[in-house]
Amino acid sequence: MITDATTRISKSIIPYPRFEELVREIEQCIELSKATGEPHCMLLDGETGTGKSTVIKYFVRENKRYEASTGIVIPHLILTTPSPVTVKGMASVMLEKIGDPAYDRGSQTSMNARLVNLIKECNVEMVILDEIQHLIRSDTDKVLNDVSDWLKVLIKETGVPFLIVGIKGKAKRILQANSQLERLFPVRETLKPFGIQDLDSLSNFILTIEQNGLIKFSDDLSRQELVHRIYCATCGTVGHIKSLLVYASFLQQEQNLTEITPSLLSQAFIKRLSTHLNVKNPFEYPRTKEINIF
Ligand SMILES: Nc1ncnc2c1ncn2[C@@H]1O[C@H](COP(=O)(O)OP(=O)(O)OP(=O)(O)O)[C@@H](O)[C@H]1O
Ligand SMILES: [Mg+2]
Repeated sequence: MITDATTRISKSIIPYPRFEELVREIEQCIELSKATGEPHCMLLDGETGTGKSTVIKYFVRENKRYEASTGIVIPHLILTTPSPVTVKGMASVMLEKIGDPAYDRGSQTSMNARLVNLIKECNVEMVILDEIQHLIRSDTDKVLNDVSDWLKVLIKETGVPFLIVGIKGKAKRILQANSQLERLFPVRETLKPFGIQDLDSLSNFILTIEQNGLIKFSDDLSRQELVHRIYCATCGTVGHIKSLLVYASFLQQEQNLTEITPSLLSQAFIKRLSTHLNVKNPFEYPRTKEINIF
């Protein structure tokens, strides 16, 4: 049985300091673009599960499309880069997202013209392209230069800043392969997992989840020990932390317990993380034993 608490923790977004910093960077790009009339674009990269798409989701949460007297306003146009991607495919996905009923019809030139017009007409302040690594062909590992060139022209013609989001290493390669496109992206940010050197940030992240009433840990482990073990279990990646806690919360309710114990965390680790993370289960160590799993 999936209970409210499990659903709530699964859906919760915790705006921790680095997360908020990235949201501010995005807002600055929009402000600077408006103030200067030049598109200030941003690249956000990071390993899988670090929370890049969640930053976008959080950033756009209160800025949905709305109807004004002048027509539809779409402050943020968000899309996932199709895979495999072609220039026409990309144009068509953008047109569909912006609401063009004939999104897959017409020549490339007419699609481009419609797209530029619609982006301006709908007062789009930023275009957000997630999964930008799809611009690298998976079979040949080559950057699709025709698509990146097309993007460059679109950015220049609309004057609207783009935020491109993708996997660390790959996303930067796309820019490096096209110097004119690269020049349009002065802002480059990486979202990293919580680091071992900065367990305070992870500790605060976990504390916020608790303070939001989403989870309650037993006091079998000291706070420091608990945080350290969660770090060891998840390598500090937010996606893994979330999987661990969501499943532990599910088990807690299934087993009718009032708190999340190390034993539940251990079971959650085995079920949700052990198969794809090459680390030992840090929750199977007794309370007093120093763990040394690296
Ligand atoms: N600040 C946060 N608060 C709570 N949960 C978060 C936060 N950031 C990320 N998550 C959770 O972590 C998981 C992974 O996040 P997300 O999908 O955004 O990662 P990603 O970096 O986009 O990964 P990928 O590169 O695979 O697309 C999601 O379940 C998401 O809900
Ligand atoms: Mg993502």
